[in-house]
Order: sequence, then C-alpha cells, then structure tokens
Amino acid sequence: MTALTRTLGTCYYPEHWPEEVWDQDAARMAALGLTWVRIGEFAWSRIEPAPGDLRWDWLDRAIAVLGAAGLRVVLGTPTATPPRWVLDRYPDMLALDAEGRPRGFGSRRHYCFSHQGYLEECRRIVALLADRYGTNPHVAAWQTDNEYGCHDTTISHSAAALAGFRDWCAQRYQSVEALNRAWGNVFWSMEYDSFDAIGLPNLTVTEPNPAHVLAFRRYTSDQVVRFNRVQAELIRARSPAPISHNFMGQVTDFDHFAVGRDLEIATWDSYPLGFLEDRVVAEDAYKRRFARQGDPDFQAFHHDLYRACGRGRWWVMEQQPGPVNWAPYNPAPLPGMVRLWTWEAFAHGAEAVCYFRWRQAPFAQEQMHAGLLRPDSAEAPAMAEAAQVAAELAEAPQVAPAPAPVAIVFDYEADWSWAIQPHGRGLGYFGLVLDHYRALRRAGLSVDILPPDTDDFSGYGVVLAPGLMHMADALKTALATSGAQVLLGPRSAARDGDFAIPVPLPPALPGLDATVARVESLRPDCPVPLAGGGAVTGYLEALEGGAEVVLRTEAGAPVAMRAGTLTYMGGWGDAAALDRLVADLCARAGVETETMPGSLRRRDTGTERFWFNYGPEPVEIEGETLPPAGVLRRPHQ
Ligand code: GAL
Repeated sequence: MTALTRTLGTCYYPEHWPEEVWDQDAARMAALGLTWVRIGEFAWSRIEPAPGDLRWDWLDRAIAVLGAAGLRVVLGTPTATPPRWVLDRYPDMLALDAEGRPRGFGSRRHYCFSHQGYLEECRRIVALLADRYGTNPHVAAWQTDNEYGCHDTTISHSAAALAGFRDWCAQRYQSVEALNRAWGNVFWSMEYDSFDAIGLPNLTVTEPNPAHVLAFRRYTSDQVVRFNRVQAELIRARSPAPISHNFMGQVTDFDHFAVGRDLEIATWDSYPLGFLEDRVVAEDAYKRRFARQGDPDFQAFHHDLYRACGRGRWWVMEQQPGPVNWAPYNPAPLPGMVRLWTWEAFAHGAEAVCYFRWRQAPFAQEQMHAGLLRPDSAEAPAMAEAAQVAAELAEAPQVAPAPAPVAIVFDYEADWSWAIQPHGRGLGYFGLVLDHYRALRRAGLSVDILPPDTDDFSGYGVVLAPGLMHMADALKTALATSGAQVLLGPRSAARDGDFAIPVPLPPALPGLDATVARVESLRPDCPVPLAGGGAVTGYLEALEGGAEVVLRTEAGAPVAMRAGTLTYMGGWGDAAALDRLVADLCARAGVETETMPGSLRRRDTGTERFWFNYGPEPVEIEGETLPPAGVLRRPHQ
C-alpha cells in the first residue's frame, strides 16, 4: 500500500464574515499549518438568492483568497440547505415523518430523497457549481451535500417516496404474486392485487410486516445512493478533483458502503464528547469517567468503518475542537484531547483531519459550538493543540497503511433487520458489533472493518461476523473457506432475503452441525452466567447438534459451538465472555494479543505503533508514564 501524506484543515464559512477578514483568516490558517479549507456546503442562498440569479463573484473571491494563501479548497455542494424559494417551487419536496407530518423549513436537510423535482434542482445547481469551479486550481476536492441522514432525514413517508417505492417493488419482485409470497402477506390477509395497492409501512394499527419494512428500508437506502451518484457523476464529468462525502457517527439508515463506491474519499464528522453523551449506551459511571475524553472505542470504530467505505482513502472532515452545542451535556475536552483525537485518526490511516469550525458563530443555531477561534477572533484552546499537531507532523508526515490482523464484517442491512425485529428492548446490531470491536481493542488489536460482500478474507487471522441476520451463500462460503478463525452469531442467517425464517433452520453453516432450536430475549437484570466466567446478556439461543461445545451456561446448555475454523456464538456475550472468545480465537490463529492497562488503546500502522490514554489516570507503557490524554508513538514493523 502506498504511503499517504497526513494533513490538517478546517471548515470555513466565508459567507458568515465580512470580506475584509478573509485575507487575515486565510493567512492565519496557513500559518497554523493547515492544508485544507472546506467551504460552500450551506451557501446556496448566497450563490443563488433567487431562481437563476447566480452570484459567483463572492465565491470566486473567497476561493482566490484562500488559494492565494496556499490553502487547498474542499468545495461542498449546497444541497443540504435548499433556500426558501426552492421550497416555494416544490412545496411537496419536504420529507414526511412517520406520523405523516412535513419536516418544515427553518433549519436544514428539509428535503425528501425521493422527490424528482428536488433532484432536478440539485442536478442544476451541482452542474453549475462544477462548471464554474471544476478546473479551478485551488479546488482540490469536493464534498457532496452534507451528512446524509443527519437529524433523521433518510426515511420519508411522502407521496414521492410512495410512488418510488411501488416502482422499486415492481422492479424487484416483477409480479405482485411474487411479492405477496416473499413477504408472507397471506398472514392477516395483507395480500395486494397490484403494486399500486402497496402503501408505506407507517401508520399501521400494530406493527407492519417486517418484510414490508425491510423492503422500504432498502428502497430508502437506494434513494440516498442515487441522490449522491447523480451529484458525483456531474462533478466527475467536470473536475479531476476527488469527491467525498462527510458521513456521521452511528448513522446506519443507508448503506454507506454503497454510497462510498461512488466517492474517491469517505470522510466522517467526529464529535467524541457529543457522541458519548448522545449516542453511546453506557452506565453513568462510564460516562463520568470519559466525560472529557469521549468513548475510547467509538471514534476508532468509525475510523475503521469509513476507511472501508472509502476503500482505503478517508478523512475526518469535522473534528470537535471544544464544547459542542447539541448533546445533552457539552463539556470542554480535557486538555490534550483535541491533539489525541487528531493523532488517533492519523494512526487509523486518515489523510486529513479538519477542525469544525474555524471561528465560532455569534449568530443562529450553533452559537454555543466552539471553533478554533472565538467569535472575537481570539484563539480558542483547541488552536494551540492544532498547532502542536501541525508541528509534530513534521516528524511523521506520512502514514504507511497496513492491513490489520483481525477483521469485523459490518452490514447495514443487518442493522435494519435488528431494528425491525429486535425481540427485546435495547437489542441492536450496531451495539452488538461495537461490543465485539471493544473486545478486540481491549486485547490491543488493530482492526479492519469489511463490507458483507467481501469474498477474500486472506491475511486475516481472525474474522468476527456477529449478528448478520441475512447472509448470502457467497459470504458463508467465503468465511468458511477463508482459513481465518471465524466467529458468527447470534442471529447469523436467521432470516432469508425477505425476512422469513429459513428451513433448514439457522445458522445452516457449511460443515457446522449446530442448529438454533429456540431464541429468547432476557431482561437486562437477568444475565445467564457461563461456566468459566462471563455471561450472556439480553439475547440467548438454544443450540442443538453434534458440533464441539466451546462455551456452556453454568447449567450446562451449549452457548458456543465449533467445527474447524467456524465458531457460532448463540447469545450476546458480555465483556468477559467476549474477552474469552477473542483470546481463544486469537490463540488458535496465532495472533498476538496484549490486555491494555487502564483505558489505554493501541493502533499500528505499517511502520508505527501508537498508544492513546483515554483514561483519567496515567498509565505505564513502554517504560514511560503516559498521562491522561497522552499519545505515544514508536517505530514498529
Ligand atoms: C455536523 C454538521 C455541521 C455542524 C456540526 C456541529 O453534524 O455537519 O454542519 O452542524 O455538526 O457539531
């Protein structure tokens, strides 16, 4: 793999500031050592204040000023914020929520991915933007839209979505009889006599048919892919610069791998403290411990996920620089954490880390969101840490990416399937995968995340593929013949492609004589202890068959079974159970592990080993005392 140069950047809104300060801002960015400046993604009302009234002059000048300072511009398409006149032109372009209510104007992302008129409007503005700047020497990368799915905006129950969904169903199933059969619509007399009779799966009296919901989730995801592809193709025809999109943390509403295939670079927006309070499910004591550092595994997981979505090329497009405004609590980072987060991204192979935002806005929704500068342009605390990283980059300007020894398979459809039929409160695929990832990290391992259509697992000693509720036969075969120690379950291959329980019963894995005879979900306060340590929490399967039993309940029931390199875990293991499984699989595969002390985390590149101290206490490592928020980098082969 070729070495990549590590760079820094920031997100800037020239339209928010008087033109007189642009020069100064650009000079300060360059002096700080920044390479990139992302602009434009919310600027539609200034680019085109009225239909066809195009005002490029200010954007021309902004790009020229930034470019003259030596900065490289990432230009965003402005389609996340259609101005009011676009809505006047297409009053039905708003997404409708599950209650059928329109999501109104006055913030952002007020559009439905299925709306043809809005898509045409996007085609027009993106083509104009790319015509104007496609070969501008300072525009060195593009960003499509902004954070698809942010604020729950992927799913829409609009008339446009209904029409599109009916068409999608007709194409997929060809005949309505085939659809009725595939969905099991005979149950409760839900059979349709034409595709035009199909509705959206909201506002039903009790739960809708899970097959119906899954089909709608697939349709919805396809709309995001289509929306992004339209933009990417228009830009690519007009510009040699790479195209990116900024994905989010723990947003699984659409298939990010599929969107990523139309991009050169996947990026994501990393807000560790916001995520800890807003997304991570954990006890209060855990959140207190990491309140100023963020979850020790959440960012790393997304770094690895988006590296996969970008097929190796990925950035952090927005890095939290101080308190944010949107989580239930918004503390300031522990001194040193902005530097740690930045280096951690680089350790996972990021080509760029851009701080959001250059200057804190004194107006509108994000007044209470820190930037590198205060609203009065004085330096905010993150500035010094960014400067420190910029100086340190001189010592380690490049990363030599290297494959990790272990991998996790991640599947967006599995997340939808768990959400559709969790079987118990709080059970979800994302949490299950993150628990497995955490166990690998506690063992000091670097991890690759792989999409579910991976057909070659060679090079990996251990592959974890928990919770894949539907598994293509090709994936089953690729895993079974990979030579890696493979961990599957719970719920692996528990449904066919249309959400029915297959017969022979799951998991029906090649060569593994193990069958899930029954499933049950458990109250959180009723874990089932395992003989030898650890427990199953939340979800437990009864396993039958002749395969070797590798974990049992204290009462003697089989929980994990194995044949050759395939191990099936019939339950949601707690941390101790997952640590046992990881240790066992790594030992069998000859993959070295080392239990990380405290809340230390480790990551290898092709030439370096990094340690990051997420805990509030110092840790001894490699003969050094690493303070809280400390980063250690050593050469490593
Ligand atoms: C991101 C978004 C930015 C800004 C930021 C605040 O989700 O892309 O525009 O709103 O959050 O943390």
